[in-house]
Amino acid sequence: MRRIIITGGAGFIGSNLVHHWCETYPDDYVVVLDALTYAGNLNNLSSLKDRDNFLFVKGDICDRESIDHLLQSHQIDTVAHLAAESHVDRSILGPGAFVQTNVVGTFTLLESFRNYWLSKDKPDHYRFLHVSTDEVYGSLEPEDSAFTETTPYAPNSPYSASKAGSDHLARAYYHTYGMPTIITNCSNNYGPYHFPEKLIPLMCINILLGKPLPVYGDGLNVRDWLYVEDHCRALDTVIQKGLPGETYNIGGNNEVKNIDLVGMLCELMDELAPDLPVKPAKQLITFVKDRPGHDRRYAIDASKIRNQLGWQPQETVREGLRKTILWYLHNQNWWQPLLSPDYQKYYSQVYG
Ligand code: NAD
Ligand code: TYD
Repeated sequence: MRRIIITGGAGFIGSNLVHHWCETYPDDYVVVLDALTYAGNLNNLSSLKDRDNFLFVKGDICDRESIDHLLQSHQIDTVAHLAAESHVDRSILGPGAFVQTNVVGTFTLLESFRNYWLSKDKPDHYRFLHVSTDEVYGSLEPEDSAFTETTPYAPNSPYSASKAGSDHLARAYYHTYGMPTIITNCSNNYGPYHFPEKLIPLMCINILLGKPLPVYGDGLNVRDWLYVEDHCRALDTVIQKGLPGETYNIGGNNEVKNIDLVGMLCELMDELAPDLPVKPAKQLITFVKDRPGHDRRYAIDASKIRNQLGWQPQETVREGLRKTILWYLHNQNWWQPLLSPDYQKYYSQVYG
């Protein structure tokens, strides 16, 4: 049995991980720590609120005193750290919050956990999982081989640079203090509870509303897509079987050009959504000004986690997209309130 704290557990991947954990390990004690920024949403966890061994705490990972108190009072043995500012376009508009949460916040958590772990005499089974991104490795050319765990870091956006900084800290805490940190670097996720600003939910919602589908640049940028439940299974595997001090790359083995992905979404929407305002939906595709510093291609070589820990993705892109679209169709009450005046303001800043 574990006593786990999941930071960022009200966000997209975090809430999927909380559901995964509560279903897979019903006897574990789960604490969620989340500041409920624009990206955090308590509705993602509403079905869990009556469980005895589940607790939600609203709080900031930069607040050292509260974290010290949480670790101690709940006798935590495992940290799954997902809290972050996570959207590249927002990091271009305002990088400060990214440095604060991703770098200073991760440092604060690491320091708090180090003191707590020392006070317990460094138990062998304690774990600190730091969840990161493949974007720290920079951008690949079409013929380059996929990122491995030894690919040099070359982050290009304020988001990826701040995540790279946090990865270095997590790594240093193992090498310097022997603290049981493990780092995962994952490719682009998609699935339920994904905030509307990201490519896949944004396109689904705009198709349903009959709004233009803004594709950056020439649409030929490539991402390696992973269904979020596959990512959660990978994180679970790493917590249970991963070795302290190691890094594991996680990817879907699903490289797709943005324009092809949007085309696939349009076709699936035409098939699955009743009464679309514009059909076929692909008429809505609009090429817009490129994102500054837009990375051309990401691809993950996930052979280490497959060979050493036995994890591999189960979902194909087409099936995963179908499930995701059906979720957005059946959960309009979830996403409609997120299109708030603040969100509209952000949307006009990015898309004009
Ligand atoms: P998200 O933006 O959906 O959720 C982030 C959560 O963190 C939100 O609930 C937010 O309220 C919370 N948060 C933000 N600042 C906080 C703070 N200072 N204190 C406490 N909570 C705070 O992000 P996501 O897509 O779920 O990503 C989760 C993690 O996975 C991030 O670390 C991200 O870098 C990493 N990751 C994401 C992807 C992806 O495709 N989304 C891929 C690889 C890695
Ligand atoms: P995103 O979901 O923001 O993830 P990331 O930038 O972290 O990979 O974007 C995925 C890809 O889609 C990326 O190449 C940028 C592109 N994109 C668009 O073309 N239009 C959009 O409106 C958005 C949000 C993204």
